[in-house]
Amino acid sequence: MKKNNIISILPLAEKIKQIEVFSPEIARKIQPGQFVIIRVHKNGERIPLTVAKKTPATGILTIVFQEVGVTTTLLGRLKPGDALHDIAGPLGKAAEIMYYGNVVVVAGGVGAAEVLPVCGALKSKGNTVDVIVGARSASMLILLDDFKKAGDRLFIATDDGTAGDKGFVTDVLKKLVTAPGSGGISLVYSAGPVLMMKRVCEIAKEAGIRTVVSLNPIMIDGTGMCGSCRVTVSGKMKFACVDGPEFDGDDINWDELENRVKLFSGQEREAIKKLNDKK
Ligand code: NAD
Ligand code: FES
Repeated sequence: MKKNNIISILPLAEKIKQIEVFSPEIARKIQPGQFVIIRVHKNGERIPLTVAKKTPATGILTIVFQEVGVTTTLLGRLKPGDALHDIAGPLGKAAEIMYYGNVVVVAGGVGAAEVLPVCGALKSKGNTVDVIVGARSASMLILLDDFKKAGDRLFIATDDGTAGDKGFVTDVLKKLVTAPGSGGISLVYSAGPVLMMKRVCEIAKEAGIRTVVSLNPIMIDGTGMCGSCRVTVSGKMKFACVDGPEFDGDDINWDELENRVKLFSGQEREAIKKLNDKK
């Protein structure tokens, strides 16, 4: 098998796909919380992607991605037997996995792929891990069977109420942290849309619980050189690719981050339109 070859590509939900890639060195080394940066072709942009699973024995990485821009759309068009041009990683710091006691992990949309390995690692350390997974609709929920195995109780929320509780993951979190006897939660871990993570932090803070979030800002090099992933944490500039992607949620300047992730949305819309017009 050649390095970077695609073994399988499967749809998980509308516009969300799972790709299995042969990348033995990364599969051996990558830890929960870390990520990879890939290029689909030689002149393509570099995009950070989440590794949801790894199998060191076979050298396979399972990457989950959402088809939102040109590169992820091109990635979604690849077939088994095609190869990625390159994969850089593991990048970023590994998640801080230790015994906390009772942990709640909160995953929004495609952010679930980032949360899954962290959830499994926290459980392996002896933590009780309650999982809240949310999506817009039942058909957009991903990795539920994996979460059933990786965590303890699984709570589901959909915006339209087609599965689990109707509402946001944050509504479920609020119920959990305010339920009688909920005083034992020591940590909330979260990944998903910026506004969701901001709200998760507010709810946990009100309940006196620390939140760790995994951020997904715009990245280019992934090695601390370009500054595109900068985020203000406790008033200091940090680079999510090398100082993170995990940070203490209470310390983040969420409004700045929200603005920065939208920085190129106009150009992205334009580029995806051109790509689709070419088809
Ligand atoms: P989405 O917009 O469909 O939202 C998913 C869920 O998040 C919703 O169903 C809801 O439960 C919750 N949510 C959304 N907005 C909320 C709000 N304002 N308040 C409270 N809860 C809210 O999500 P999507 O389209 O799948 O996007 C997923 C996001 O995850 C993207 O922004 C992506 O950048 C991010 N992501 C993060 C990582 C990471 O490592 N942190 C990895 C992959 C993706
Ligand atoms: Fe360039 Fe982080 S992606 S500094």
